[in-house]
Amino acid sequence: MTASTGTMNGVVLPGDSTAKLKVYPIPEPSHGEVLIRLKVSTICGSDIRCIYHEHLGKGPEGYRGVIAGHEPAGIIDKVGPNCRRFKQGDRVIVYHISGCGVCYDCRRGYMISCTSEQYRRAYGWQRDGGMAPYMLAEEKDLIFLPDQLSYADGAQVACGFGTVYEGLERIGISGNDTVLITGLGPVGLAAGMLSRALGANRIIGIDVVDERINLAMELGLCDEVLVSGPDNVDEIRAMTGGRGVERAVDCSAHHEARATAVRATRKWGKIVFLGEGGTFGLNPSPDMIHDQKTIYGSWVTSTWKMEELVERLVRWTVHPADLITHRFSLDDVAQAYALMSSGKCGKVAVCFDEELGA
Ligand SMILES: NC(=O)c1ccc[n+]([C@@H]2O[C@H](COP(=O)([O-])OP(=O)(O)OC[C@H]3O[C@@H](n4cnc5c(N)ncnc54)[C@H](O)[C@@H]3O)[C@@H](O)[C@H]2O)c1
Ligand SMILES: [Zn+2]
Ligand SMILES: [Zn+2]
Repeated sequence: MTASTGTMNGVVLPGDSTAKLKVYPIPEPSHGEVLIRLKVSTICGSDIRCIYHEHLGKGPEGYRGVIAGHEPAGIIDKVGPNCRRFKQGDRVIVYHISGCGVCYDCRRGYMISCTSEQYRRAYGWQRDGGMAPYMLAEEKDLIFLPDQLSYADGAQVACGFGTVYEGLERIGISGNDTVLITGLGPVGLAAGMLSRALGANRIIGIDVVDERINLAMELGLCDEVLVSGPDNVDEIRAMTGGRGVERAVDCSAHHEARATAVRATRKWGKIVFLGEGGTFGLNPSPDMIHDQKTIYGSWVTSTWKMEELVERLVRWTVHPADLITHRFSLDDVAQAYALMSSGKCGKVAVCFDEELGA
């Protein structure tokens, strides 16, 4: 990127397990938009699942060949006409789905479920995202990033941590609960971090990848970990006086892990499904009805809940950036996606300026 030529490199994902750099003009913000100079853009499991290997998604998950990246954080470089609140130099996170702003869901702050086919466009899916030195964002999609949080903290609030916070609030987590997390990718690790902050003092994690199991223990996000297998329900019952856990969060999307999350939860317990895609088999009477259990689904979060989370992260001195195990420059973006798709890592970030060496 050079200011003199007015061009920059942006990342596109052709859907053949590669990430390519393409030259774009540095865009100009129009009415109600800002130009953000990116500092960090993290990679999400959804990018790998729906775009990187093949373009699987339809509708809200349909990738339209735009600049990838839906977890951006940066500083406002330029403000377009008629912006009302944000100004040049503000540090910002982007709520990663730009909704129409006026439908029922948008008015509730859940632009994720915006019903306007014409105006709902997610960054990195249907409109240019954060895997470039600059991106345009609508002012209404911005969340202030306080000075106590780094850009790397902020990038993860978009998507991962926001999603987890919403899901955990839905089932309610406190010091009363033993929490089971199935799938210890960045979303599962975030579930550990936020469950801890909400008071949970016993967290059990399950994964299949050693690196992730080890990371969960090293970072103190799980108290006990199990390798995924057919005996997990019995193992968890044995660890919990025969009863099972009070709360479970599936962050794997794997059918067996989902079944474990449901069956290892005790009577009156609550389960939330965050992992996306796939299927799973449920026997309603033994799995839910007779044990008085509730299963929730939770999709991303709202703008106001994201603002609330940012405030809480500061209060709790919780830093999402602790989950980042690897930082890459934009030039090495191909390696960044390849590593994230291997699963042998925590969170993977593409960084600019001061965040690259952090
Ligand atoms: N609900 C939402 O709004 C929302 C938002 C963001 C991401 N997601 C989804 O959340 C999921 C997790 O995201 P991520 O970025 O952490 O992805 P990820 O793919 O890095 O993590 C998934 C983890 O599950 C593990 N796993 C696979 N099979 C398992 C099994 N049988 N038992 C236990 N663990 C198993 C994998 O090893 C991996 O560590 C993805 O499905 C993603 O699409 C949902
Ligand atoms: Zn995501
Ligand atoms: Zn809308």
